[in-house]
Amino acid sequence: MPNIVVVGAQWGDEGKGKIIDLLAQNADAVIRYQGGNNAGHTVVFDGKKHILHLVPSGILHPGTTCLIGNGVVIDPVSLLLEIEALEASGVQVRGNLKISELAHVTLPYHCALDQAYEAKRGKLKIETTHRGIGPTYKDKFGRTGIRMADIIEPDGFKSRLEQNLEEINFMFEKYFSLPPLQIKDTIVKYASLGQRLSEYVDDTAEIVNSMLDDGRMVLFEGAQGTFLDIDFGTYPFVTASHTLAGGASTGTGVGPTRLEKVLGIVKAYTTRVGAGPLPTELQAGGEDLRIRGKEYGATTGRPRRCGWFDAVIVRRAKMLNGFESMALTKLDVLSGIEKLYICVAYKINHEIVKAIPAALRKTDKLETIYEILPGWKEDISGIRKYQDLPDNTKRYIERIEELVGVKTSLISLGEARDQTIHMDDL
Ligand code: IMO
Ligand code: MG
Repeated sequence: MPNIVVVGAQWGDEGKGKIIDLLAQNADAVIRYQGGNNAGHTVVFDGKKHILHLVPSGILHPGTTCLIGNGVVIDPVSLLLEIEALEASGVQVRGNLKISELAHVTLPYHCALDQAYEAKRGKLKIETTHRGIGPTYKDKFGRTGIRMADIIEPDGFKSRLEQNLEEINFMFEKYFSLPPLQIKDTIVKYASLGQRLSEYVDDTAEIVNSMLDDGRMVLFEGAQGTFLDIDFGTYPFVTASHTLAGGASTGTGVGPTRLEKVLGIVKAYTTRVGAGPLPTELQAGGEDLRIRGKEYGATTGRPRRCGWFDAVIVRRAKMLNGFESMALTKLDVLSGIEKLYICVAYKINHEIVKAIPAALRKTDKLETIYEILPGWKEDISGIRKYQDLPDNTKRYIERIEELVGVKTSLISLGEARDQTIHMDDL
């Protein structure tokens, strides 16, 4: 198998966790390249559900090295809780997990700022996960961030934090009317967290590149999805990182020529959690589809907004990420819906447009053009061969392939590893 970048083709929650876990059976390493604990990747193994936020979704395979790359932002409290929970359920994390020394650290003030900024935005709230992601990346790019290399060394952490204190407390007290940060408590707490994490901190770029030199197979695990990308997403209703496949290179230190293949993870309908445009959204947020698909956020528990399959955005996701094949997920959820709508084009003022407009106010005029396909009644969650699928299911898949211009490599019909149809060897 080639090295594969696994990327979400919509607004996140496409089922990346399951697909990574499945592909990790043949992988030597899985590396996360962006985002932080805003991600919620669900992996079900032996009937037990694990929700992973920072630890790569390859961790359930004992022989797979899991790496958290430099492009990820790490909340040490959240990461340690996740490691403890995994170890408590018998998953070996120690020795299998390495974290980049260059990864930026999410501190309690980032989470406080995330909430405070959201409150200030009023009606223009992004509806973030409140995990401090935006403020951590803001500090990274403002060059005031604190990295894993700093927190494992108490003096380094103290001096970096002291440098930032004046600005943090200015924002807290003067702009947000919040109590000032207690620097002593933060230093004591994070010195101990840093010590506990120090055994995991390493030069992950060196590790992953030397594995590639040895001909080992590496999976690059994307978080969020294409239209939450900081550049190509529905700005400002986006996350703060490069979610596109291109982010896999800068977020790990692996040159683009070594990435080899991109697999788009495509949900058989559309969901979004948080504010921002969702052109195919069903009335009242698509409650029926939400209940069928159990569409509640894995990180925040919030109900996800649901809508019909949108071929316009997935076609664009194919272009932006360069994927030639896809894993089509949650197809089983559509069983029993009489008519299935697929959005095939967008129009503004009677003219075809190829994307959601960059100036979001124009989305008021966006018209969605649908094609209607007949649904199927059968429960398909137990089917393991393509030829056994109902004809209308095959038609739905083939129409999506045609409209998007990609072939299907995997079809997922449920959460478990074996609820999958393998169409090719990838
Ligand atoms: P996975 O990896 C779906 C959304 C939030 C919000 C926006 C910005 O599980 O697919 P942030 O906290 O990142 O600043 O919030 O992005 N969001 C996600 N939506 N799946 C995710 O991750 C998400 N991570 C962030 O709801 O709209
Ligand atoms: Mg999720």
